Amino acid sequence: MLTIMMLVMSKWFTVQPSRIALVGDVHGNWAAAKACLLWAGEQQADVVVFLGDFGFDFEPPYGKHQKSEFEACVNRWAGKLGIDVLYLNGNHDNWAWTDSERERQGIAAVEPLQMAEHVWNLGVGQRLPWGERGWLVVPGGVSIDRVWRQYSRQRIGFPIWWENEALTDAQIDDIVVANTDRPVDVVVAHDCPYLPGSWLSRHLSQNEPIRERSEISGIGQKELRDSDDHQLRLLRIFDSCLADDGLWAHGHYHINWRHEVQDSKRVIGLDCDGIVDQQGEGVQDMCLLVDAAGHEIDASKDST
Ligand SMILES: [Fe+2]
Ligand SMILES: [Fe+2]
Repeated sequence: MLTIMMLVMSKWFTVQPSRIALVGDVHGNWAAAKACLLWAGEQQADVVVFLGDFGFDFEPPYGKHQKSEFEACVNRWAGKLGIDVLYLNGNHDNWAWTDSERERQGIAAVEPLQMAEHVWNLGVGQRLPWGERGWLVVPGGVSIDRVWRQYSRQRIGFPIWWENEALTDAQIDDIVVANTDRPVDVVVAHDCPYLPGSWLSRHLSQNEPIRERSEISGIGQKELRDSDDHQLRLLRIFDSCLADDGLWAHGHYHINWRHEVQDSKRVIGLDCDGIVDQQGEGVQDMCLLVDAAGHEIDASKDST
């Protein structure tokens, strides 16, 4: 275990990257993941952070510590490109797998878990020592199609829903207590905090008095309320752990959008694999290049 931890600690958890590629939901889609990795390589990114619903071990067999084809492909191409891959769990990532591996290896939930030579799963509330003030990792989200997913074991023989997909109040408390006195430059998250009046909240949140969201068939009202509650819980982290000029980057909603709160904190959501075609077009909507302080790097104007 000591050897593994030393290897982990010698990588991006102690080293300063200057170019970081952020990527939205891949959902185990290797063609999209490859297009994003190639894009990151073209941008000379030092490291890639996938913002959940990544799909690592998305395919069966689950929980048997065997590598899936997707996992092997990501690791191989990350090695070819010389880029390390970090990812946080979304609601559709295999929480059972990463939890059991952490337990087996004696690694705390807040610590990174090495999944393959070039691939790490980030911890819940993990701090990355990047930039002057650091980065904070906030995994998790609510599956609004939870009912359909809960029956997956009966229907298809393996689970595609995990009970601990979303952060609890206790987990949020721990993150707030640990980080409130030293706010970070960047939060990398799967979900987005509730942002009153924002375009995303008007479309998605039942907390909005004027809701423009159209009803989605097959989606339970309880799941929608749980999703709203999760957004509200994340607001505590947004308010107390993110620096006034910081960036909150997220996936989960499968849309590229951005929002600025009172001319200060920025929120950027990235699109998902469905936007990328066979030729890799559309990858710009699911990828973002930033520096260690969370400022966007315009690759077209940057030759370093
Ligand atoms: Fe998601
Ligand atoms: Fe997703």
